Amino acid sequence: MNSVKSSDIRKDIPLLNEIIYLDAASTTPTPEPVINAMVDYYHNFNANTGRGAYKTAVKSTTKFDDARKKIANFINCAKNEVIFTKNTTEAINIVAKGLDLNKGDSIIVPNIEHHSNFLPWLNLKKSGINLRIIKANKFGIIDTFDVEKAIDDSTKLITTTHISNSIGSYQPIYEMGDIAEEKDILYLVDAAQSAGHMKLDVKKIKADFIAFPGHKGLLGPVGTGFLYCRNEVAEYLKPLILGGGTVSNVTEKDYVLEPVPSRFEAGTQNIAGFIGLGAAVDYVKRIGIENIEKYSLNLTRYMYERINDIDNTICYGDPENIHGIVAFNIEGMNSHDVAKILDEIKNICVRSGYHCAIPAIKHVGADALEGTVRASIHCYNNKEEIDIFAETVNEIAKFAGG
Ligand code: ALA
Repeated sequence: MNSVKSSDIRKDIPLLNEIIYLDAASTTPTPEPVINAMVDYYHNFNANTGRGAYKTAVKSTTKFDDARKKIANFINCAKNEVIFTKNTTEAINIVAKGLDLNKGDSIIVPNIEHHSNFLPWLNLKKSGINLRIIKANKFGIIDTFDVEKAIDDSTKLITTTHISNSIGSYQPIYEMGDIAEEKDILYLVDAAQSAGHMKLDVKKIKADFIAFPGHKGLLGPVGTGFLYCRNEVAEYLKPLILGGGTVSNVTEKDYVLEPVPSRFEAGTQNIAGFIGLGAAVDYVKRIGIENIEKYSLNLTRYMYERINDIDNTICYGDPENIHGIVAFNIEGMNSHDVAKILDEIKNICVRSGYHCAIPAIKHVGADALEGTVRASIHCYNNKEEIDIFAETVNEIAKFAGG
């Protein structure tokens, strides 16, 4: 397809010899160099960071810090604009709970979000914050015109996913960045399904906050994620939790916060995990993020066509506007049953159900089949796997239709 050699990547992920893994949108299997970086930590410099003066602790701190530098460099921001979290959800909650919002303020949020980028905002309704919910079109795409219409003096933040986790639809995040900048409104992007799948330059997106997973497109370990938080706004954000590592001074009456990002990273961190994530960023860079983007886009379209061509299937999303994800159903079949059969007969791993996005699934009308079957890919997948997948779906659909 182009310069991604999925066969080389597959050598680093032995699990892919056993199964056809089409669930990258949930999490990705971890390549050997990433595992080796974590094993190196545990074998050779397994000490806490930012605390000890002895050589092993200094080495651990340096490697941890190097990982942050690699990540910052990869998304084009300053090192202290990267706040480590355990996942995308935590990153979004840091913003929702840390902003100084007042009763009567409003937030703009699409109706196709993952619960992670919906519940933290919905919860603010209890404090008198209004949600202006933007309805996507039938393909799960929001219109910037609707976003502009929803803005008024009370609007304090616009939030959106980059790529819908349930439909795969790609949102106009750059245009929304322009709108947020022009109207001087805070802007958050949930990059859970785009990070590691395509180039993300935070300066070009013009977001104040971008929530990233480490364990999906970036091919890092589970338990890692991070929040890009623009320096100018980080000062106004209240830390979600406090504890060791977050303060520079404490008296019995008060405390002084550490500079950003330390004030947001309470307690011992997932040191091995973030060192692994640094190695994962190196790994993705070696393949080439532009190569990954092109390769995955071609494979996504191929997969969509193959599934859409099968009688009795319903595909969601516009094939020209999806990336990495194909969501579908077989008419009359519960989505979980389809997923279980795919696994039983061909070891094909897909996610089924509501994908932690109940409003989105209702929006595309897939409620009756208990959600959708979702196949999601990365650069380790290949055409042969998609062919086996499509042939197996075809067999199930024939059986269902027959
Ligand atoms: N957020 C992950 C998904 O969409 C778990 O499957």
